[in-house]
Amino acid sequence: MRVDIVTIFPDFFGVLDISLLGKARGTGLLDLRVHDLRDFTHDRHRTVDDTPYGGGAGMVMKPEPWGEAIDSILESTDAADPLLIVPSPAGTRFVQTTARELAEEEHIIFACGRYEGIDQRVVDHYSERIRVELVSLGDYVLNGGEVAVMAMVEAVGRLIPGVVGNPESLVEESHEGALLEYPSYTKPSAWRGLDVPPVLLSGNHGAIERWRHEQRVERTQRVRPDLLPPA
Ligand code: ADE
Repeated sequence: MRVDIVTIFPDFFGVLDISLLGKARGTGLLDLRVHDLRDFTHDRHRTVDDTPYGGGAGMVMKPEPWGEAIDSILESTDAADPLLIVPSPAGTRFVQTTARELAEEEHIIFACGRYEGIDQRVVDHYSERIRVELVSLGDYVLNGGEVAVMAMVEAVGRLIPGVVGNPESLVEESHEGALLEYPSYTKPSAWRGLDVPPVLLSGNHGAIERWRHEQRVERTQRVRPDLLPPA
């Protein structure tokens, strides 16, 4: 999968060099390219924002650098149908289903807005040419799209076949299915007065499966009853 990220903070994405995604980049499973939006400006101050028409607080990102940046990415793609994602609290909610769908994409371009957002004409212009989606990480406001894109790239990247070593570890997780994940334990069997639940030491696989299922149901009822089907 190819992923391009356009941002005024390219350094932000240095952490994508480490851990599983860093390895996926190394092996070519993930072709991740980060671009500095200011490289597509032409003035001495590398200006990317200006005051909003109609007045109001804050600054709006100018359309011209975005147009140049996205055009240059589109000119270099082999993908037949690339997808432009604009992270925004005004977008559709990013959930595990979204991650699964995005993991099937050939080429995703993320446009990280800052300030009061990107001039609307950027979305309007590209909507007539390619698929464009506004996507929200959750019902809260971040200072910009970078943290949201980091989360999305991690959630999507780990679903690309081969990125996570043992694909079985993707199956029983929270949000794969309706229930949250069960709690996990490792050695030692006693730590600071807390024992591992005895059933996990019993060797009785049927009992372990039942206990884990009960834990998932109890946990989901307690913290996320909204995930359960109506009784
Ligand atoms: N940019 C600012 N807030 C955001 C959010 N909640 N999701 C995605 N992008 C954002």
